[in-house]
Amino acid sequence: MAQIAGQSGLFITLEGGDGAGKSVQSNALLQRLEERGVTAVLTREPGGTPLGERLRDIVLSLAGSGDSPLHPLIETFLFVAARAELVERVIAPAIARGDVVVCDRFADSTVAYQGFGRGVEAEVIERLNEIATGGLRPKLTVLLDLSVEAGLARARAAGTADRFEREAVAFHERVRAGYQTLAEREPDRWLLVDARQSPDAVAESIWRRVEPLLKRRS
Ligand code: TMP
Repeated sequence: MAQIAGQSGLFITLEGGDGAGKSVQSNALLQRLEERGVTAVLTREPGGTPLGERLRDIVLSLAGSGDSPLHPLIETFLFVAARAELVERVIAPAIARGDVVVCDRFADSTVAYQGFGRGVEAEVIERLNEIATGGLRPKLTVLLDLSVEAGLARARAAGTADRFEREAVAFHERVRAGYQTLAEREPDRWLLVDARQSPDAVAESIWRRVEPLLKRRS
């Protein structure tokens, strides 16, 4: 897979439970970057390429529907396959050009959902992520933290619930606690934001952390 040598761009990811507001905040961040004249790319996982979007459809709806639930390890493979494709085709080339890449979910989602949520072994996920990303890691990861109750209410109000949004509250509680553990383990990389705040206030907290990173690049 892609080997990321001599990175010159900036890689930022947004993470959080369902309904935490990642899409709104990813778009808001992209807009601020563009207003600053920064060349930025916004993408999402799973998705971001034609193959990735097809894998997204499968993993969020078709696979595992009906009587036979999708095996957690196979679910992991599908997310990781989408990740490898996105890194290879979109993220690595953009970083190499010196762009800022904003990605709505990345490798930490698999650790939180398939690892903490479904119980897939941490070492397995770490190894698969390493292969899929070629060792590429975000400089900054924003965790939009919200109670499971509030997040699911928002996500469900937004439309038809996907396979994950239909999961039990206990699953989502494990995902949330998993994210909090990840953020505590690597405080330099993670920015934890209280997603109960207004979208503008959340966007402001994110921007305060991103702006100095832009200056450091130039
Ligand atoms: P989204 O609704 O934030 O776009 O994400 C789609 C769903 O996929 C969300 O419920 C989280 C889940 N997901 C995983 O379980 N593992 C992963 O690696 C990724 C990227 C997403």
